[in-house]
Amino acid sequence: MVAFSDDEIRAVYETIYARRDVRRFRGEPIPDDALERIVDAAHHAPSVGFSQPWDFVVIRDEGTKAEIAAIASRAIEAASVAYEESRREAFGRLKLEGIEDAPVNVCVTCDPTRGEPHVLGRSSMRRTDVYSTCLAVQNLWLAARAEGIGVGWVSFLYPSEVREVLGIPPHVKPIAYLCVGYPETFPDEPILQTEGWRDRLDLEELVHLERWAGAETHPRKELGVDERESNPSA
Ligand SMILES: Cc1cc2nc3c(=O)[nH]c(=O)nc-3n(C[C@H](O)[C@H](O)[C@H](O)COP(=O)(O)O)c2cc1C
Repeated sequence: MVAFSDDEIRAVYETIYARRDVRRFRGEPIPDDALERIVDAAHHAPSVGFSQPWDFVVIRDEGTKAEIAAIASRAIEAASVAYEESRREAFGRLKLEGIEDAPVNVCVTCDPTRGEPHVLGRSSMRRTDVYSTCLAVQNLWLAARAEGIGVGWVSFLYPSEVREVLGIPPHVKPIAYLCVGYPETFPDEPILQTEGWRDRLDLEELVHLERWAGAETHPRKELGVDERESNPSA
């Protein structure tokens, strides 16, 4: 099929704009067939050299969730002390994970050895395996939204500890830890925006026509990490 109907096109955009990071879940379980569909959507993401570097660890066990939640709680505490007083209070008010509330957790991992020795297109950009894995996450997130299922990404975690709890092999990287379930609600805007933490940037300032406009220098912006890694002379 080449063209989609107007309704189908609208549904794609509506799903994109209505997707939210969800941290409050209703308890009811997710039907297996719905979970299979959203994981299959993830598996149809683009990947460098069609390497499909992802795996999905599906967690329903309350004991495992509690172990992961304990890691998150320590990571959140550690992040909190880095903020100055006023910001720390606002940070403390945020709900930053729904690990134990969500009926299902999914850990999406990246296996950098998948497809080796010749992963087409990865020789000069090593991290494209991780980028590919993130695209799988986004597919899952959007498919879930279309199904009325909420997803929340928890990055307040220590990957080596998550690896240990879930028995992930040492060469495989945990990339995304996702809380999945029916949400109390899908907020209209990012929760961080509602809470006054940060606003959406103006798209106009982010689009550069033909060349980058408004060049600025900053020590941390001199060279992207990918360039440093793949260009030994840089
Ligand atoms: C890589 C990544 C990591 C994130 N980690 C967390 C997290 O640890 N805790 C949290 O509450 N939200 C987390 N989020 C959600 C973001 O805060 C959220 O996507 C952003 O505020 C925009 O809101 P929206 O997803 O509802 O549009 C994460 C999102 C991404 C993409």
